[in-house]
Amino acid sequence: MAALLLPVSSRLPKSTAIASARPTPRFLSFPLTTAKPCRRRGGCSILASSATSPSPVAAEAQPFRSLPPSETTVLVTGATGYIGRFVVRELLRRGHRVVAVARPRSGVRGKNSPEEVVSDLAPARVVFSDVTDPGALLADLSGSGHGPVHAAVCCLASRGGGVQDSWRVDYRATLHTLQAARSLGAAHFVLLSAVCVQKPLLEFQRAKLRFEGELAAEAARDPAFTYSVVRPTAFFKSLGGQVEAVKKGNPYVMFGDGKLCACKPISEEDLASFIADCIFDREKANKVLPIGGPGKALTPLEQGEMLFRLLGREPRFIRVPIQIMDGLIWVLDGLAKVFPGLEDAAEFGKIGRYYASESMLVLDPETGEYSDEKTPSYGKDTLEHFFEKVIREGMAGQELGEQTIF
Ligand SMILES: NC(=O)c1ccc[n+]([C@@H]2O[C@H](COP(=O)([O-])OP(=O)(O)OC[C@H]3O[C@@H](n4cnc5c(N)ncnc54)[C@H](OP(=O)(O)O)[C@@H]3O)[C@@H](O)[C@H]2O)c1
Repeated sequence: MAALLLPVSSRLPKSTAIASARPTPRFLSFPLTTAKPCRRRGGCSILASSATSPSPVAAEAQPFRSLPPSETTVLVTGATGYIGRFVVRELLRRGHRVVAVARPRSGVRGKNSPEEVVSDLAPARVVFSDVTDPGALLADLSGSGHGPVHAAVCCLASRGGGVQDSWRVDYRATLHTLQAARSLGAAHFVLLSAVCVQKPLLEFQRAKLRFEGELAAEAARDPAFTYSVVRPTAFFKSLGGQVEAVKKGNPYVMFGDGKLCACKPISEEDLASFIADCIFDREKANKVLPIGGPGKALTPLEQGEMLFRLLGREPRFIRVPIQIMDGLIWVLDGLAKVFPGLEDAAEFGKIGRYYASESMLVLDPETGEYSDEKTPSYGKDTLEHFFEKVIREGMAGQELGEQTIF
């Protein structure tokens, strides 16, 4: 089985040119999906939850579903990330055996030593490996003696969102996770994706979408395999960046009138719990699942007003015209054509522009508008409670890990 799943070429192309970084590696058991990332200007609207119809999975085809959590082993990649760490903890709390994959130096700029990771994720079994090398990943997992894997959760993400890194991590390393998990027996795969892939204008979104297509293709190929694609809205960490500055007396900075975008923020614990639910819940099999936190959607203006109210101060805002970002992106895009080394700088500008103007909510296919009502809610943690804690304890007290670009 393992041999069948090995890529035709044991290593993916090393070229740094994006043109050569994008092609899908040929895997014997992963026929190319016909799903192509959307490049239409303005993006495509792919409505998540209704995008695939779940095929009924016979219980006997997936015997792990009738096992108690203590007898199921779950493989987690991206286990050292902001969400991955909480997913590992949640799975352990529910009694699963967890095999967590980590780099020898993990965290932002590799600040965490192997010992720190083992202690942080204990009692998970930590396997140090390289998810960007499919052969090494499979060999390291096969040799670590944890026995068969029943399900896998992938929380991998490019830490920066650069063009090539997105394809390396959000597509290829994620595909390697699927490949290794299937070799070890996994019958269910949970992917941490993002609600924003429904309107893919950024490279990491296209890479994620491409992988979502691979998952659907694998489920179509093997009816005993299922998946859940989890597409969350904004994480608390992405919205807490201004709390300390505002607490010190600075104004709250927002784009336009502060109503250009909205989201239903979800806490790391609630999202980890939702992801863990996906392992046994048949209702979540073969589905794309957009998910937000409790309560109504909040615009940046409402988030700023909430913050000032909690601080007992008069609201003070700086409104930055969104056109400033358009100008910056135009310049960077032009420069990147001449100096390819600036390609990522231009992409980071587009990422900033996207999150300043696009809502992290489900796009209603009927209206083409973002919809608060159509974005499901889960969990109990509110942004207001999170802001209160950051005001009280500071950002460092929130176990956010280090901020990445998202
Ligand atoms: N921020 C938001 O509001 C938001 C909202 C919805 C969805 N999302 C999605 O959630 C995901 C981000 O989750 P997160 O914040 O938990 O990410 P994160 O903290 O940046 O963690 C990324 C994980 O991927 C691993 N990784 C990255 N590059 C790697 C490489 N080259 N080799 C091996 N491992 C690598 C990291 O390992 P190391 O520790 O070794 O670096 C880490 O475990 C993204 O897909 C994003 O689109 C984010």
